[in-house]
Amino acid sequence: MKTMIFPGSFDPFSLGHVDIARRASLLCDRLLVAVMPNRGKNPVFSVDERLEMARRCLCDIPNVEVISFDGLLVDLYRSHTACAVIRGLRSESDFRNEAEMAAANRLLCKEYEVLLLPCRMDLAYTSSSIIREVAYYGGDISGMVSPAISEFVRTRLQERNERH
Ligand code: PNS
Repeated sequence: MKTMIFPGSFDPFSLGHVDIARRASLLCDRLLVAVMPNRGKNPVFSVDERLEMARRCLCDIPNVEVISFDGLLVDLYRSHTACAVIRGLRSESDFRNEAEMAAANRLLCKEYEVLLLPCRMDLAYTSSSIIREVAYYGGDISGMVSPAISEFVRTRLQERNERH
């Protein structure tokens, strides 16, 4: 049973994330999509909202499970006896960050392996922060997030705009 982990802050889950999860699900028996905290980021959506969004976007992929985990990625990796972590790559700067994270994780866990999947070119320039910004100002995010969550993302960011 090959388990892979696709971790991220997913704030919110983008079409790029859906594409990576779909492709990764074909490479393993079980793909755990893990909503995790990134200490360098202050999320807009709660963990429960991010879990719900990821589940709605991925509900048609049978071997995907969406979980949340607050801790070190290597601890999650070990506890599920995973064989690889999946990360999407959009750009050279992503590659540098990923190489740094992989090196740190490898120091913490010698079995740690990571597969970097280049993301679809048409989605290479969207990010969760761009989605949040466009939705905050009432722009059209339909090309950036799944229809399963676009209304929720739009409403949530609009509320935030009105409060500020
Ligand atoms: O979607 P993101 O924000 O790029 O995801 C980054 C994430 C959550 C995968 C990363 O911050 C992470 O692994 N956090 C868990 C804590 C951890 O293990 N940190 C050490 C990584 S070097």
